[in-house]
Amino acid sequence: MTAIMTTMTTAYSIDGRTFRFTADVATGLTSGAYIRVDADNGMSCLGRIIEIEASDTGTGRPVITGSGVIRARVEDGDIVAGAPTAFGAARISIADPGLVAAHFRTARRDKAGLEIGTLGDAADPLPATLLASGFGRHTLVCGQSGSGKTYTLGVMLERLLLNTDLRMIVLDPNSDYIRLAELRDPDAAQGGLADRYAAATRRLSVFGNRPGQIPLRSRFGRLPLTKQALVLNLDPIRDAREYNAFRRIVRDIGSTEYTLTDVRHRASALHDDASRDLAMRIENLDVEELGIWAQAGEPTLLDLVPQDWRALVFDLGSLPSSGEASLLAASLVSQLWKQRQDRIPTLLVIDEAHNVCPQIPLDRFQEMASADLTAIAGEGRKFGIYLLLVTQRPQKLQVNVLSQCENLVLMRMNSAEDIEHLAASFSHVPASLVRQAAGFGLGQGLVGGPVAPDPLLFRTGTRHSVEGGSDIPSTWAGSRTG
Ligand SMILES: Nc1ncnc2c1ncn2[C@@H]1O[C@H](COP(=O)(O)OP(=O)(O)OP(=O)(O)O)[C@@H](O)[C@H]1O
Ligand SMILES: [Mg+2]
Repeated sequence: MTAIMTTMTTAYSIDGRTFRFTADVATGLTSGAYIRVDADNGMSCLGRIIEIEASDTGTGRPVITGSGVIRARVEDGDIVAGAPTAFGAARISIADPGLVAAHFRTARRDKAGLEIGTLGDAADPLPATLLASGFGRHTLVCGQSGSGKTYTLGVMLERLLLNTDLRMIVLDPNSDYIRLAELRDPDAAQGGLADRYAAATRRLSVFGNRPGQIPLRSRFGRLPLTKQALVLNLDPIRDAREYNAFRRIVRDIGSTEYTLTDVRHRASALHDDASRDLAMRIENLDVEELGIWAQAGEPTLLDLVPQDWRALVFDLGSLPSSGEASLLAASLVSQLWKQRQDRIPTLLVIDEAHNVCPQIPLDRFQEMASADLTAIAGEGRKFGIYLLLVTQRPQKLQVNVLSQCENLVLMRMNSAEDIEHLAASFSHVPASLVRQAAGFGLGQGLVGGPVAPDPLLFRTGTRHSVEGGSDIPSTWAGSRTG
C-alpha cells in the first residue's frame, strides 16, 4: 500500500501560482520541464518544474519531489485567459509540445519574436523564440571560454538586424563580427533570406585598421575636457597648475579640432613652468603617437559615420595595442553617452566587457569607460541606450553595471563560484536553472529576463553570417600516424 502511495504522481497548489509535487522517478520529469496539471476540481493548467530532488522512501524505490510555477490555464488542450486557482490534488504529466508552443505564442502576443535556436533536446524540438522588445533592458551574456558566446551573440545580432529596427554599435575586441554583413552561404539561403539580409545590413559599417575598413580614428579635441585630462593623466587637484595651463590653452584654441601635438606646441611656446611641464608630460606619456588620433585635416570616424546608419562594428582587434583599443572603446562609449539626447533606441554591444568596465580598473581608460557605462547602466534606458555585455567572468565586471542587467544569457560555466554569483545577481531567473550551466554543451544555454517569455533552456541555431575572428588552427594535434 505504501509503495503505491509513494509512486503516485500528484501535485497540489495553495495559491494557484506555485505547486508542489511527488512523482515516481520513472516519470522522467526534470527541472525546467513543462507539465500539464489536471486537478481533481476539473481545472487544468500548464506548469513548469523549477526545483526537483529525489528522496529515498525506504521502500527501495526512490520518489522525486519538487516544486514549480503555474504558467497558464488550459481548456480543451489550449491556453486560455484567466488566473489558475488553488487545488488540493492533481495529476501531472509531461506537457504536449503543442501546448507549450501555444503558451509561448500567447506570452509573445503581437510582439516581434527572434528565433535563436531550439528548446531542449527533443527529436522534434520547439523553436526558442526571444521577445525582441526585451532587448530594451540591459543584457549580460556569460559563459566560459569556448562555450559559444560569440557564436550565439552573432545569431542574436543577425536576428535583431533582420526583424527589428534597433540600431546597434558593436565594440569588437577580437574581430569576431567584422563579417556580420556577409552571408555564409548566399546560394543556400532560402525564403528570400539573401535579399532580406542584404537589406538589413545595407547600412552596416565596419571601422578598423584593416584594408577595406573605414579608418578608426578619433580627434583628441572632440573628447570632453575631463576625458582629455584623463588621457593626459591630469588630475585637477593633484596637478592643479598643469591642469589649469591645459584648460587655458584649449580655451585659447577656441575649437575642438585640435590634436595633442597642437596642445604640446602651444604649451612649449609658453614660458610658465606649468605649461612647460604640460608639454613634457605629453611627450613623456607617448600618447601623441598613438595610431588612433586623426591628424590635422584627416577625417575622424564620426565624420565617416553615415547619417542614417543602422549598425556600426568597431574592429578594436585591428588596433596595434590593447591601450589603443581601451582608449578607443572609452571614447566611443563617451561619445554615445554625449549624444543621449538624440533618444534613438540603440543597442551597445561590448564583447569582453570586463576589459572595458572592470570592477577594478587597471588604467585610466578603463576608469573613463567604467564611469560612462555605469551612467548608461543606470540611466541609459531613459534615453534608449541598451547594453548587451559579454564576459567570461561576471565577477570581474563593474558591479554597478552588472546589477543593472535584467536579461541573462548563460552558456556553459564551470566555475561554481561564478554560477552562484549569477544566481544571486539574477534572482528572477530560477537558481536551479542557472546551476544547470555546468552541464551545458557547446552552443547550449539558458536565457532569462524580459527577453524570454519564460527562462528558456535553448540550443543555438545556425548563424546566417560568416564568423569573423581568427580561430587558431588545431591541426598541430592531428594524428601523425599512417
Ligand atoms: N552553436 C554552435 N554551432 C556550431 N559551432 C559553434 C556553436 N557555438 C560555437 N561554435 C564554435 O565553437 C567555437 C567556440 O565558440 P565561441 O567563439 O562562440 O566561444 P566563446 O564563448 O565566445 O569563447 P571566448 O570566451 O574564448 O571568446 C567556435 O569555433 C565556434 O565556431
Ligand atoms: Mg568569444
